Amino acid sequence: MTALSPLAAETIPTPDALSIRPELPEDDGWIEALHEISFGPGRFARAAYRVRERIGVDPSLSHIAEVKGERAASVRMTPIAIGGVKGYMLGPLMTDPAYRKQGAGRALVRHVCDLALARDGIAFVLLVGDFAYYGPLGFEKTVLRAIRFPGPVDPERVLVLAPDAGLKDVLAGNVGPWV
Ligand SMILES: CC(C)(COP(=O)(O)OP(=O)(O)OC[C@H]1O[C@@H](n2cnc3c(N)ncnc32)[C@H](O)[C@@H]1OP(=O)(O)O)[C@@H](O)C(=O)NCCC(=O)NCCS
Repeated sequence: MTALSPLAAETIPTPDALSIRPELPEDDGWIEALHEISFGPGRFARAAYRVRERIGVDPSLSHIAEVKGERAASVRMTPIAIGGVKGYMLGPLMTDPAYRKQGAGRALVRHVCDLALARDGIAFVLLVGDFAYYGPLGFEKTVLRAIRFPGPVDPERVLVLAPDAGLKDVLAGNVGPWV
């Protein structure tokens, strides 16, 4: 796969080399190209994509990770509610192949989850993803098929991060907008 960034990842960056900033309008083209190489032509059919299309992402929680000042990874967050409980849906999370395995993905997840969960009335961050990756970041499996998306989704991949440890067992209903 071709790297999106002109900077080759010859060196493993020190933590000092990794920085996170809010997404800007001029990042749109880079993010769309990264989306295409990360998820391919099937990306528009994904259940999480449908939620984002219907509700719209929150630009204040969409962030970019940079390595030595070059764009390396992107994450977006969408405000959602499930059964009257307000939270955010995380995704897509994508790292430029030239910068993978350097901690950018994990750093972005931690950063935007901290920001989201610090907001008044926000009880959880939900995502559809691999438990092997997100489990170590605190995400837990939800009750199978309790959370319904506008499209098919593998219920084993519906994961939640919530300060209230009991929420994952009772969160149920359609994924919809805040009301
Ligand atoms: C998943 C992704 C965002 C990780 O980005 P990253 O910046 O490389 O992540 P980090 O550096 O924080 O973590 C890398 C570690 O996670 C592991 N990892 C990556 N994807 C994984 C997955 N799906 N399941 C389990 N582990 C995974 C890597 O092997 C690596 O392990 P190591 O630290 O033992 O070497 C990136 O691989 C990517 O963009 N993939 C394509 C899009 C995608 O699948 N996004 C996630 C949607 S759920």
